[in-house]
Amino acid sequence: MTQQELLDKAEQYFVGGGNGEFRLPPEVNFVVSRAAGSKLYDVSGKEYIDFLLGSGPMILGHCHPAIVDAVQQQITKGTTFMVLNEPAIHLAERVVEAAPCGEKIRLVITGSEAALFAIRAARAFTGRDKFLRFEGGWHGVSDTTLHGSRTLTPGDYPETSPDGGGIPRAWSADVLAVPFNDVERARTVIEQHHEELAAIVVEPLQRCILPRPGFFEALRKLATRYGIILIFDEIVTGFRLAWGGAQERYGVTPDIATFGKTISGGYPMAALCGRADVMDVMDGWRPADDPKRVIASGTFNANPIGAVAGMATLDVLEQPGTYERLFEMGDRITREIVSMGKEFSIPLLVGGEGPVLQILFTTDTEIIDYMSMFRADKQKAYVYGVEMIKRGCFVTPYEKIYLSLVHTDEDIDRLLEASREVLRDVIAKM
Ligand SMILES: Cc1ncc(COP(=O)(O)O)c(C=O)c1O
Repeated sequence: MTQQELLDKAEQYFVGGGNGEFRLPPEVNFVVSRAAGSKLYDVSGKEYIDFLLGSGPMILGHCHPAIVDAVQQQITKGTTFMVLNEPAIHLAERVVEAAPCGEKIRLVITGSEAALFAIRAARAFTGRDKFLRFEGGWHGVSDTTLHGSRTLTPGDYPETSPDGGGIPRAWSADVLAVPFNDVERARTVIEQHHEELAAIVVEPLQRCILPRPGFFEALRKLATRYGIILIFDEIVTGFRLAWGGAQERYGVTPDIATFGKTISGGYPMAALCGRADVMDVMDGWRPADDPKRVIASGTFNANPIGAVAGMATLDVLEQPGTYERLFEMGDRITREIVSMGKEFSIPLLVGGEGPVLQILFTTDTEIIDYMSMFRADKQKAYVYGVEMIKRGCFVTPYEKIYLSLVHTDEDIDRLLEASREVLRDVIAKM
């Protein structure tokens, strides 16, 4: 079948022609036929350098031989058991030992579940219902977390509302949100509501927004003072910004952290991990009538295929030089794109750091919160993404650029050459 025939079929059978929020613009939409290393190939045979990496899991690129080998071996030994299995125990040890907050862990399947269970555990442990989050952060698709994931009306802080249809409006009352990096607003809300607050939930690198010095330290202090559980959602940052994740990089230890993407090797696997006394609410031996007993179960939890793929990934990431290489590539892209912006008089910033970046077309001098991201020119970001895809660099419009250990200097050269062309010939003329 041709690519167009497959796209037509997808349009016919999938709701909205896709399988989630994320869809490519029609003018560059394609169907993946296969992938290897840093490259994707569509059904028409076109090659792309992949800077989406499946939204982050493929930090070793596609079909890494160590992962393929581990998965092939595990497939012949069994693929799901519902009970303890060897690979899951090895992965558990690895994550707990690497995470500064690690004491106990639960392995689940998706990042959404990990975030949901972390909040549920905090609620049960503290006996409180509300949690504080940060405007525009993403913690997956549960009914609990889909309040305040989008931009709020500034005067409304800390009130949230459902981010989409089908989410109970009443639940918004238990979700308070303030802008990322805004210590004073966070402090005010925490001091006003501390008796009702179970958790503070934060993406330590929120999308592509870096924490300002002192932000997490302030949250840590307030959480400790009022017995609130500090949750770092490290689904993106875990094992990506450093071996010990954002907690290690930014030097603040949460009570619980969530992991996904990087610990999955591209297979279903996610985790929540942290203080033993808090995690203990998920102990299945607690009596059924114990009001603190949290149900955090799932058929595919601790899946052995995800576990061996995750272990193979961590074995490679643990080698010397990993984070230096990821940051060297990220720093180079940031430096050169910023310099192109100046050369072609295009106001822009590169958000994020290391292997997680995002180009924002903005006259702001710093991206400090979701409002400043939101103000950036979306039309230019869209056109930049479309033009990059046309040139064989799979950079998704509006979204982050993810870097992997298998991106070569030539891949980065091609990204920069294509960016130069697009910025100079297209964006500068908009
Ligand atoms: C920070 C963060 N938390 C949670 C999630 C949800 O993970 P999943 O899509 O595996 O449910 C994501 C997914 O992108 C994420 O980036």
